[in-house]
Amino acid sequence: MHLPNLEEAKIRTDKKSEIKNNSYDFKKQFQNQKFYLKTYGCQMNVHDSEEIRKYLEMLGYQETKTLEEADIVVLNTCAIRENAHDKVFGYLGRCKHLKHEKPNLLICLGGCMSQEESVVNEIKNKHPYVDIVFGTHNINDLPKMIIDAKEKQNIEVYSIEGNVYENVLYSRDSKITAWVNIMYGCDKFCTYCIVPYTRGKQRSRRLESIVKEVEELKEAGYKEVTLLGQNVNAYGKDLEEPVTFSELLEKVAETKIPRIRFVTSHPWDFTSELIECIAKYENIMPYIHLPLQSGSSRILKLMGRRYTKEEYLKLFQEIKEKIKDVSITTDIIVGFPNETEEDFLETLDVVNKCQFDGAFTFIYSPREGTPARLIKDSVSQKEKEERLARLNKIVNQYSLNNNKKLEGKIEEVLFLGVSEKDDKKLYGYTKTMKLVNVKADSTLIGQIVPVKITEAKSFSLDGEIA
Ligand code: SAH
Ligand code: SF4
Ligand code: F3S
Repeated sequence: MHLPNLEEAKIRTDKKSEIKNNSYDFKKQFQNQKFYLKTYGCQMNVHDSEEIRKYLEMLGYQETKTLEEADIVVLNTCAIRENAHDKVFGYLGRCKHLKHEKPNLLICLGGCMSQEESVVNEIKNKHPYVDIVFGTHNINDLPKMIIDAKEKQNIEVYSIEGNVYENVLYSRDSKITAWVNIMYGCDKFCTYCIVPYTRGKQRSRRLESIVKEVEELKEAGYKEVTLLGQNVNAYGKDLEEPVTFSELLEKVAETKIPRIRFVTSHPWDFTSELIECIAKYENIMPYIHLPLQSGSSRILKLMGRRYTKEEYLKLFQEIKEKIKDVSITTDIIVGFPNETEEDFLETLDVVNKCQFDGAFTFIYSPREGTPARLIKDSVSQKEKEERLARLNKIVNQYSLNNNKKLEGKIEEVLFLGVSEKDDKKLYGYTKTMKLVNVKADSTLIGQIVPVKITEAKSFSLDGEIA
């Protein structure tokens, strides 16, 4: 048994992360059994779940979308905000209930919540029916833990700086778009954020192996890759022979895969060289997610974000000027400890100046082990909720306004599948990452097609084949 440790999770040394080449040799010993995989959190977790799915399939399990049919349940969790905790424990309650009827049901917990000391203690002390707990650093231990599962609960979570994994096999969600990890972990330690503790030190993958993965995806018919990292523009700084993110992007663009995206960009490390690189290549999509967090320089400083309001606005302007028709979305936190009305108005000011294409907005949530949690806060929850509502109203208005500008225009749309609401329609995304619904034949799935935008809504567009 290995339990997570917050103090160890903070450690950052120069220790070279080891590269593990996974070897896979599982007998399909659980044939005729089913797995249910549930994913919370960010794209990184969605991608990790593709690795988990691969292992389960290699063990012989088949996927079910119905919890009640499952012989094994795997929850891949997120720890970014406190409310995830209640959701996951609520879900575990359902699994426990199911286990009464199906005593052989295996219940497994992984992801960022497994890296939290308090969560694992709670599981250990109060939820003995959870069979397996694994962390973000040892997803590849899961098959062995399943094979070895006994009556006793098995917890294997490591608070290490982390390894760089190469040659990982995935069972991907899509045959059209693919996630590609370019780096693991985060060293930024924004004062509110738990990710550096749950994901470990920043470790970049080697440039050649990333490019090779993209080439293979292109060969396999993929139309789009999204390069993944908590801070993609810090890519390569930790390598023995440092490379920049724009050098990587160029190499990936030269594979000629039709569409390249990347998340997440931190405003810090966002160089002019990078902006020029994005502008230069047709297949690098003009879409940037650029988290603001707050418009108040005072709060940004307390958050440890390393940029001011003015620096953010300057960067935003430069991106808008140099990248044609770029769309920019953001993340905003309201109610950081002791955020004043004036601070909040600074945030609204930036939103009004930038008129984002979209924004994910959150109320600050205190997280275990992070420095911001120790700040005594004088702002009430009610006040924070009101600020969030005020912010959302403005944010949604700008989304709609920006979408309205596309009415009557022709946009290139990559179709991904049949719309959930209307089976005569397909859904897909513009280069700028806007969701479009179009009446079209399913043979167009996987193709990039010109679409005339007929109607704009706040969160999607309607169109017709041009
Ligand atoms: N690496 C990315 C963010 C990843 S987390 C970046 O630095 O931009 C995604 C978003 O969750 C963050 O951008 C932030 O807006 C939000 N978030 C993170 N920690 C939070 C917390 N403690 N409370 C509320 N929102 C938080
Ligand atoms: Fe969290 Fe900041 Fe790292 Fe983003 S950059 S993952 S917000 S610590
Ligand atoms: Fe959540 Fe972990 Fe991602 S905390 S946002 S799943 S890195």
